[in-house]
Formats: sequence, C-alpha cells, structure tokens
Amino acid sequence: MQIDILTLFPQMFHGPFSLGIFQRAIDRKLVSVNIHNIRDYTCDKHHIVDDYAYGGGAGMLLKPDPIFAAVESVKSDIALEEEGGELPVILLTPQGQLFSQEIAIGLSRHSHLILICGRYEGVDERVREHLVTDEISIGDYVLSGGELAAMVAVDAVVRLLPGVLGSEASSLDDSHSSGLLEYSQYTRPAVYRGWSVPDVLLSGNHAQIAKWRREQAIIRTLERRPELLGKANLNLEERRLVNRLSASP
Ligand code: 6GU
Repeated sequence: MQIDILTLFPQMFHGPFSLGIFQRAIDRKLVSVNIHNIRDYTCDKHHIVDDYAYGGGAGMLLKPDPIFAAVESVKSDIALEEEGGELPVILLTPQGQLFSQEIAIGLSRHSHLILICGRYEGVDERVREHLVTDEISIGDYVLSGGELAAMVAVDAVVRLLPGVLGSEASSLDDSHSSGLLEYSQYTRPAVYRGWSVPDVLLSGNHAQIAKWRREQAIIRTLERRPELLGKANLNLEERRLVNRLSASP
C-alpha cells in the first residue's frame, strides 16, 4: 500500500512512522508513506497557504490551489492500472464521518490512499466538493489540525495489512474487530502479590480457554460498552448469557 499525506507540518510525522511495527512494515515494503508539504505546492513567492474567509469572520482558511496542486501531482505519479475503484482522497476534519474499525478495514483494501490534513479554521469548501472523496473525524473533540488524526487512521489501517503483524491471527483477536472488547489477559507469574491467574488459563484445555475468553469478552463489553453488543456477532447461547447478565442486578 502507498499512503501519501499532505500537511503543513511534515516534521510531526517523523517520530510515529519510524518506530516499531510501522518501521518494520516500511522496511519490508508492505507500505510506503510519503509526506508532502502543502507549502511546496504554492506558486507565489511567499508560499502562502491560507487566506481570509469571504464574508468575514475570525480565522484563516486553507486556500484551494496548493491542495489541488499537491493531490494532482501525487495522482499523476500513480500508475493508473493500480486502482480499480476510486482512489480515496481523505480529508481529516472534525466534521467528517466518525472513524471506526470498519472504516479502517475498508481503507486497508485499497492499494493507495491520499490523506489531507486540515489546519487553521478550515478548508475552502471547493476542496471538499471537488477533490475529496471521504471526510474522517477521529472523535467528538477538536484538535488543532488533522495530523494526529491522520496518524491514528494510518496506524489503524497499516496494522491490518497482510504480514504487518507477527501472526495473521493477532489482529482478529483485537478489541473491536469481532465487535467485542478484548478479553482479559495474563502473563507470568501465575501468582503476583497473591493475585492469581484464573485457573482455566493454566488448564491447558484449549476449548475451555476459548470459551472462557469469549465469555470474558462479552462480559467486559456489556460492562463497558453495552451499545456495541447490538452489532456484535453472538450465537444463541451468547445472547442468552447477555440477557441473563443484563437481568441480574
Ligand atoms: Cl480529523 N481534525 C481535527 N482538527 N480535529 C479533530 C479531528 C480531525 N477528529 C477529531 N477531532
């Protein structure tokens, strides 16, 4: 997968993408990330990227021309055969669709993504109308720009790419990928400060362990995020467990 990120603050991306799982994915050529400075696509000698809003009001808006120029330049470098469907051009903005594991999975199926990080008070509406295919927000709070949101989205997508995590199974067990929160986990020692690991996990009975974990995931989800259970894939027995637990005080 190739990911192109357009930003006014390229330096912000240097840390997160040069560590751990991410760096390994880049080294193995499972993903390539190119950071582009929107300011490099200005044509005036002062490299101006923002301007006042028509109609007045506080704050500056990102001008459309450097953003169009940057996206068009990136697109012209992409071999056209690559993308059967539409190439996502994603604007990170608090007005966007709320990001989720489902959206991450959808994005992970593309061979190429372009992300535009909004800044200042906003972006000229023509960027939204005529350039952007999707708008994404990472939550109901306001960040000073789309950069941190872009890192969040890219992280969630890249760890889904085949070969990025150690074993294929490890992202399937994640909280949210089954629609449930993850079950509780323990490592050695078996007793720490008098607190024991649940017996079943030491039993070696893999069927029992799987059953216990599934129940724990359901119980945890019911306690912390009951609204997720509506969409989770539960069998009849599991639905009964939920009903029984919800009924007991
Ligand atoms: Cl994508 N951008 C900004 N500026 N604030 C946000 C956001 C994005 N998502 C949540 N808050």
